[in-house]
Amino acid sequence: MQNILFTGAAGYIGSCSVYHFLKNTNCNAFIIDNLSSGFIENIQFLESNFKDRVHFINIDLNDLCSIRDIFSQTNFDCVVHFAASLIVPESVIKPLLYYSNNTKNTIDLISLCIEFSVNKFIFSSTAAVYGEPKTLPVYEDSLLNPINPYGFSKMMSEIVLRDCAKAYSNFNFVALRYFNVAGALSDSDFSKKTGLGQRSKNATHLIKVACECAVGKRESISIFGNDYDTKDGSCIRDYIHIDDLALAHLSAYNFLNDNYRSEVFNVGYGNGYSVKEVVDVVKEVSGVDFRVVQDERRDGDPASLISNNRKILDLTDWKPRYNDLKYIVNSAYLWEKTLKETNV
Ligand SMILES: NC(=O)c1ccc[n+]([C@@H]2O[C@H](COP(=O)([O-])OP(=O)(O)OC[C@H]3O[C@@H](n4cnc5c(N)ncnc54)[C@H](O)[C@@H]3O)[C@@H](O)[C@H]2O)c1
Repeated sequence: MQNILFTGAAGYIGSCSVYHFLKNTNCNAFIIDNLSSGFIENIQFLESNFKDRVHFINIDLNDLCSIRDIFSQTNFDCVVHFAASLIVPESVIKPLLYYSNNTKNTIDLISLCIEFSVNKFIFSSTAAVYGEPKTLPVYEDSLLNPINPYGFSKMMSEIVLRDCAKAYSNFNFVALRYFNVAGALSDSDFSKKTGLGQRSKNATHLIKVACECAVGKRESISIFGNDYDTKDGSCIRDYIHIDDLALAHLSAYNFLNDNYRSEVFNVGYGNGYSVKEVVDVVKEVSGVDFRVVQDERRDGDPASLISNNRKILDLTDWKPRYNDLKYIVNSAYLWEKTLKETNV
């Protein structure tokens, strides 16, 4: 039985990914999280489904002595690193927080992997490393040109991973560049109000915010900019369902087990939907005509961001199942209703 260390898995993407690892392999999941933006309810859901295979440690990644103790007590087969700060405007105001929590803590974690011979590392990267791409879709070898400290903090982590994989022949990584994730775990039982999905004290993601409007948690949603060079003037993004994103981590793990080399993969569907289209789908799925406010452009929002996902499809066993905007929105909406009814 393999021991896998997951950082940040009390959060949205991490908890859903751990669920799929536990469901599809016989691993033990060791979860490090300081609950800064994660939720103990996510850990409790995993514990209730997988009992003694979940080991939660409430600790900050910057507590290097304690993290070293964890490495010295358990032999890990792989580290899957989700923990990060991820609010772009905050990264502009507090760059040191982002370089410390994202880049420095990642470097420390990589150092421990090398010291303790943990030779597989899966890293949560982001489409933000591309900045404002000149051509679409973006390929993994398109120019990296982040436009905010968050994107730089992730790009720098990728560079450290790349150089360490070159320098230490046993150390391999997969960096997954996520596009826009939404929805809830499909194995959630909405009738019993249990499952995993996006919890957030201060949501900023479009589908989540629109669903909060649909269930009456918010009064209105803003659309930022109506004069982009796109079909309807609003920004275009590539939306991916959480199950497919979570399962990409399992595919990355299988890839590392089979190939003993490092890769970077885009994880999106390669479709682009405008903000206005997404808002309309949320209204259609929920049957609620919530208020939409046209707002100014925000700094640093690229007009369009769409992935080319050929590489992950060709090189791994990843087979996306939910490439359907209505399915993604419906899943997010049912989850939001569950949160509202349980007062979360
Ligand atoms: N959500 C997205 O749309 C998106 C897009 C691209 C990339 N990502 C990346 O995916 C990863 C997970 O994002 P998420 O949406 O699940 O966010 P999240 O906020 O739900 O999860 C992040 C988790 O990391 C934990 N954490 C943060 N700093 C920590 C520290 N110093 N020590 C211990 N735990 C710490 C938080 O408590 C939280 O549980 C992040 O690395 C993020 O940059 C997310």
